[in-house]
Amino acid sequence: MKMKALLLMSCLATVFFAGSLYAQQEGTDYVQQKMAINFAKMTSILNHLLIDENYEVIIQEANAIEEHAKWMKKRIPELRKDNEFFEGYVLQLESNATNLKAIAKRIYKERGLGNKSSEFLRAQASAHFGQMVTMCVSCHNTSRAK
Ligand code: HEC
Repeated sequence: MKMKALLLMSCLATVFFAGSLYAQQEGTDYVQQKMAINFAKMTSILNHLLIDENYEVIIQEANAIEEHAKWMKKRIPELRKDNEFFEGYVLQLESNATNLKAIAKRIYKERGLGNKSSEFLRAQASAHFGQMVTMCVSCHNTSRAK
């Protein structure tokens, strides 16, 4: 449990650090607000993957991040500025959130039936979470690396 907490803290510190550095650039308050909410949702997903294991919460959080990616997709011309990778990061964030949601739904359903047969999918769920974090950090990094 100590290791898990440590891992949780260090992952979150990385995302937060990337987010706050990025915020030093110009941008709309609205995007910043949405991103800060995303940050809280990522924290919550990690907590539920590792410690509290409420898959219903994971479904909700992943859904919100997927919606956020869809929103960013619509505003690519305005948001991407000179980040040529922006669209790719948005699309990958979206597809990983979609996949995480699908896996969480299955685990949630099977657990409800008292069935442990989909527990092996927890590793895949974590891999999608990891890809989501990678997209957060990659987009922020390339946007400010000038
Ligand atoms: C495709 C690009 C992209 C992706 C992916 C992305 N962001 Fe952002 N992020 C932005 C933009 C654009 C802003 C707005 C910056 C501004 O307004 O100055 C932002 C701002 C932020 C901020 C605001 C920082 C602050 O202190 O106000 C946080 C926090 C943040 N993002 C977290 C995340 C998290 C968590 C993820 C992953 C779930 C993520 N971002 C994924 C582009 C992205």
